Amino acid sequence: MQMIMLGPPGAGKGSQASNLSETLGIPHISTGDIFRANIKNETSLGLQVKANIDAGNLVPDELTVQIVEDRLKNADCQNGFILDGFPRTLYQAEMLEKILDRHQKKMDVVVNLVCPDEVIIQRLSGRRMCSCGRSYHLTSNPPRVPGKCDADGLDLYIREDDKASTVRSRIETYHNQTEPLVHFYSKEGVLRDIDGTLSIPETTERILKMIGIET
Ligand code: AP5
Ligand code: MG
Repeated sequence: MQMIMLGPPGAGKGSQASNLSETLGIPHISTGDIFRANIKNETSLGLQVKANIDAGNLVPDELTVQIVEDRLKNADCQNGFILDGFPRTLYQAEMLEKILDRHQKKMDVVVNLVCPDEVIIQRLSGRRMCSCGRSYHLTSNPPRVPGKCDADGLDLYIREDDKASTVRSRIETYHNQTEPLVHFYSKEGVLRDIDGTLSIPETTERILKMIGIET
């Protein structure tokens, strides 16, 4: 199963992709997580992308497409994958179609997590992250031990781009550059809207049901 999680920042793409990856046994590929790991390790890619991410702008298309293309060559993607935060521009979506064609694959479903701007702001202001990619929320999804990841016990941190001014520019970037993908995938017949304002487990259940898996 090849799946895309589409939606504005804070809609729950990462939280859902992580749950679905566990249930479906296919990798969760987040371009945002890949960039953040590179920034943390101060790689040359990390240095290249940091300014864009900190400002709430997109990383250049060519760079992003190359990273995804390389990642999809890994053996763990043979039986499918969940893309989270990619594609984010029409150019990226068109390039992804070409990459899938070369692998004789197609996109099965694009989950569009629908979430209004007010909910997004509330979610991102309370988010706490682990470097493993899991995200928590101070009130709606707290870790079992405050400040520590449930999975690996590492210290949680606040994402650099979750400050209010950057969140505003990320939301704007989403509406200008990523929202047109809703129309693109709707025309392709693979778009499925899912209410992103329900609880995390309820949303996961709805997505699984939509792809024919009863829990
Ligand atoms: P990325 O990391 O993809 O960030 P984003 O799209 O802004 O999305 P988020 O990760 O902030 O939100 P999410 O939808 O994953 O929500 P989450 O599950 O964490 O990208 C970061 C940056 O990298 C971009 O700005 C760009 O610069 C660059 N980049 C990445 N990909 C790129 C690309 N393809 N092209 C160019 N540049 C790219 O949930 C959020 C919070 O809400 C958490 O606290 C969570 O616990 C809580 N929550 C989630 N769901 C619910 C729920 N249902 N109910 C209550 N709380 C919930
Ligand atoms: Mg995310």
